[in-house]
Amino acid sequence: MTFPITRLRRLRYNSILRNLVSETTLTTNDLVMPLFVCPGENVKNPISSMPGNYQFSIDLLVEKCKKIIATGVKSILLFGIPEEKDETGDVACSLDSIVQKAIIAIKKEISDIFIIADVCNCEYTTHGHCGTIIDNDVDNDSTIETLARQSVTLAQAGADVVAPSDMMDGRVQAIRRALDENGYEKLPIMAYSAKYASGFYGPFREAAESAPKFGNRNTYQMNPANSDEAMREIELDIQEGADIVMVKPALSYLDIIYRAKAEFNIPVAAYNVSGEFSMVKAAGEKDWIDQQRVMMEILLSIKRAGADIIITYHAVEAAEILNQQN
Ligand code: PBG
Repeated sequence: MTFPITRLRRLRYNSILRNLVSETTLTTNDLVMPLFVCPGENVKNPISSMPGNYQFSIDLLVEKCKKIIATGVKSILLFGIPEEKDETGDVACSLDSIVQKAIIAIKKEISDIFIIADVCNCEYTTHGHCGTIIDNDVDNDSTIETLARQSVTLAQAGADVVAPSDMMDGRVQAIRRALDENGYEKLPIMAYSAKYASGFYGPFREAAESAPKFGNRNTYQMNPANSDEAMREIELDIQEGADIVMVKPALSYLDIIYRAKAEFNIPVAAYNVSGEFSMVKAAGEKDWIDQQRVMMEILLSIKRAGADIIITYHAVEAAEILNQQN
């Protein structure tokens, strides 16, 4: 049937009808808020390239989490800035490490929060790379051993999910094995499966103080040119025991999210990363775009592409808008 019998605009005149036929709905259940925890007490360091985001000491982080929960966002993703760094990231492998201590403190005060712990070494190594350097290369097999130990201590602290973001080969298998051997067979792994070597991580590296001191991450993170390779990464992570797979960044990789959802029967997370967030903030501050409107459109597009979970620095602001709509 074609025009004039068919008029697609008929479904657009009434706002209630528009909602009735809406194909995609964003809710606070979809959102995860990333947070940065640093040493000290009563510390709230603004992250200049990410307006509205801070490095919090544990005491203030707990208060922040209470406010987040009150908006309906139920889950956070934690990154740590340690007191001291070392060559291998071993500083992140004990219950006294910054993120582990933060998890213990949050769980003590807040019962209904879901904590995803990022597993990586770049915040903890003096050189800023995601693993141990041997012969000028990030050594794969010794790094996954450290990551497995880091994961077990995060589980002991009370993390609800561990999320390896390092892009070493075989890390999901190593982490699954270590968790199971230590009695954490019920703890899910959210793997950063298709993580690209991206310019969009710039602001995060200020936030987490994790920029590589030499070279770049091109030998472990993926080439932005590749899509089939992302499917191979995802397939391997699923075989190794990933429960949720992630595509990162989100906005320039909506095609990867779409393919991941279409090709695999597994929950897909998308990370709307720091640079994506900061661009919206910067253009909004200049009044070049309607910041809130663009933010909601971006989050909806990530959901429409196929993401079940959206990790975003916009989580709280988006939740506040979603709450007003209901
Ligand atoms: C650690 C890690 C990074 C991000 C999340 N985990 C940075 C990187 O790979 O350099 C980026 C998140 C963001 O930009 O918001 N490996």
